[in-house]
Amino acid sequence: SAAEKGGYDYFMLKEIAEQPKAVADTLLGRIDASGLLTLDEVRIPVHELREIDKVVIVACGTAFHAGLIAKYAIEHWTRIPCEVELASEFRYRDPILDTRSLVIAISQSGETMDTLMALRHAREQGSKVLAICNTNGSTIPRESDAVLYTHAGPEVAVASTKAFLTQLVACYLVALYLGQVRGTKWGDEILAVIRDLSHISGEVERVLETMEPVRELARSLADKNTVLFLGRHVGYPVALEGALKLKELAYMHAEGFAAGELKHGPIALIEEDLPVVVVVPSPRGRSVLHDKIVSNIQEIRARGARTIVIAEEGDEAVVPYADHLIRIPATPTLLQPLVATVPLQVFACELATARGNEVDQPRNLAKSVTVE
Ligand code: AGP
Repeated sequence: SAAEKGGYDYFMLKEIAEQPKAVADTLLGRIDASGLLTLDEVRIPVHELREIDKVVIVACGTAFHAGLIAKYAIEHWTRIPCEVELASEFRYRDPILDTRSLVIAISQSGETMDTLMALRHAREQGSKVLAICNTNGSTIPRESDAVLYTHAGPEVAVASTKAFLTQLVACYLVALYLGQVRGTKWGDEILAVIRDLSHISGEVERVLETMEPVRELARSLADKNTVLFLGRHVGYPVALEGALKLKELAYMHAEGFAAGELKHGPIALIEEDLPVVVVVPSPRGRSVLHDKIVSNIQEIRARGARTIVIAEEGDEAVVPYADHLIRIPATPTLLQPLVATVPLQVFACELATARGNEVDQPRNLAKSVTVE
């Protein structure tokens, strides 16, 4: 009913709007007065967390994209090797696991059969399983050794939005917590990032306030057949997520690429007026990546692409090459997906509406996939 949708036309719009609160709720009570993380709810003893020599993340769809981003955070802040695998592929390749492996299963519903089978396989090998889940008491957390709940609240729309942002927050918390208990050379950075995380919900809010031009742009592209998405570093999984949203909702051909891969094939797809969304990393700090992606934007534009550039406020280098420029607030590099994903959600939702599609219930899809 209209009341359930809180005055919005679709649950998806309501859930996109709820993201600042969902992010804040997922952080609530997990940062102590001294700015350190308290994750006692992860009942894996600290001495075991110190012995972990490998992290393996399993998940499907959007949750898998959260896992891809988590890998960057975990490896950077903990120096523990981390693999991310589609849950549906995992147990069929005889993965190398033992008692010192930590397996993280990410799932909004907690009922996804592929993810459940992957975690059962991991436990059979003696690995500890930590679930990152949005649904209290669901099967995946019940069968795991530990759980970190995301506090997104119920997500009704088939396309995952607020669950994704809170999965990212939970992944950052796990990465930072592992870094904290293991003591790495990144101690100061970890403290600074925890501080930045505690402000990030306000940044997500600011992005939401500036989405009208994105909706307008989406409507103008309603008759296109293809949209490509490019990113580097954590922007690459964001590109994959943007493409998945568009497939699910707008039923358009959409693909995400690592921008560095363009020259190895995908650049052949670029033709006159093809919309290409580019997620640009911050020009601060990792400026090498930034410069490379600016060249990528130039290359595709020279071949006719219509460039839709998502870039940090104050990034002037992209301006000459952006046919459409979407601004996001400056964040630490690893946290950028929390703000960069939001315009892509709005874009896909508006395109679906413009094409007359059923936003909350896309064809052929179910909210939770309980078959393998
Ligand atoms: C996301 O928009 C999708 N509907 C889908 O990819 C989803 O993320 C996937 O099926 C995993 O679901 P889960 O998080 O409930 O395990």
